[in-house]
Amino acid sequence: MTDQPSKVLYIIACAAGPAADVGKLVAIAQDDGWIVQIVATPLALDFIDVPALELQTGRPVRSQYRKPDEPKSPRADAIIVAPATYNTINKFAQGIADTYALGLLAEAPGLGIPVVVLPFVNTALASRVPFRQAVDSLKAEGVQILLGVGQFEPHLPSSGADRIDTYPWHLAAEALQRRR
Ligand SMILES: Cc1cc2nc3c(=O)[nH]c(=O)nc-3n(C[C@H](O)[C@H](O)[C@H](O)COP(=O)(O)O)c2cc1C
Repeated sequence: MTDQPSKVLYIIACAAGPAADVGKLVAIAQDDGWIVQIVATPLALDFIDVPALELQTGRPVRSQYRKPDEPKSPRADAIIVAPATYNTINKFAQGIADTYALGLLAEAPGLGIPVVVLPFVNTALASRVPFRQAVDSLKAEGVQILLGVGQFEPHLPSSGADRIDTYPWHLAAEALQRRR
């Protein structure tokens, strides 16, 4: 039996508290056999430890579109967005591509790349009509959003810091494993 070549997982981190711990998801994904590429939204760069993540993944953290003469990164075989913010979820659903992260997400459904989204939003944001519509429309496009009972449940406003340690990174990895 020949070993299957490793596949490339893009982990997109948005600007929310759990982003500081995205290395936990990197470790789980690497154990599952993925080569991991971290992509951060520009604002998420303030939340993550870039040198530590580059050491862990062996790859540069990307947050900007490449310059036209720079080489392309390897194509993603799958994408996890975690933590996924209210902002990025709404923009993804609307088809906005004004960050590198959103540009990747804009093309993913059309390319057949599986996308798993693990939100981190409070109840005030999660109850908004635009957010609920965004979740419904992304699900209709085949994006897997881990929101609701037994998945990620929105926290009360101003309590996010208390939920960072229990943010369920493993659920995103498990959802992807089921789609492999
Ligand atoms: C300390 C801090 C914590 C934040 N936590 C959250 C959060 O838990 N969820 C969320 O949706 N936005 C959160 N935000 C707001 C986002 O950072 C903001 O909406 C930003 O525009 C998101 O950008 P991005 O989606 O490009 O990463 C937080 C902002 C700060 C400064």
